[in-house]
Amino acid sequence: MDLWRSIIEEPDSICDRYRRLWAEQTGREREYYDRVRDLFNKTRRPEYLLYLLLRCVKAAVRYNSNGEFNQSPDNRRRGMNPETLREEIVGASRLLRGKATVAAADYREVLSDVTTSDIVYMDPPYQGVCGDRDARYIKGLGFDDFVATLRDLNDRGV
Ligand SMILES: C[S@@+](CC[C@H](N)C(=O)[O-])C[C@H]1O[C@@H](n2cnc3c(N)ncnc32)[C@H](O)[C@@H]1O
Repeated sequence: MDLWRSIIEEPDSICDRYRRLWAEQTGREREYYDRVRDLFNKTRRPEYLLYLLLRCVKAAVRYNSNGEFNQSPDNRRRGMNPETLREEIVGASRLLRGKATVAAADYREVLSDVTTSDIVYMDPPYQGVCGDRDARYIKGLGFDDFVATLRDLNDRGV
């Protein structure tokens, strides 16, 4: 969520920080990725996450059981060109600044406030990727609770 806050509130600063990391990796991409991943796991700084997202395999975030980012790099790619990324981020900021609230909360908490004038879009974990045998998400999402919540939204006309 800190990354979204940075994208919305300080797009130029997050882009400058990404550009610095992107340039510094030149000629030692593999080793540099591991270093940034260690730094992210220690500090949780948003520019490190942005770099990891743009360089990791399939842009697929993976955490180990200690909550540490552990996805490998895609060694065929250097990460998005910083100026292309800047266009994307500045565009997102222009759309969302002053209009969006960023929250890290259980979906049920967020949905408790929505009304019939809201459109709700959700992108929940697929069934089967958050059970005991697949720890892709740190917290699971209970199917029955999810169905009950959807039913409640229907009842409330959302
Ligand atoms: C398919 S991913 C969404 C990906 C996202 N749309 C994107 O483009 O990055 C599912 C998301 O649901 C989140 N999630 C899992 N359980 C949740 C819960 N109880 N409340 C809110 N979010 C939850 C996961 O952390 C994960 O980020």
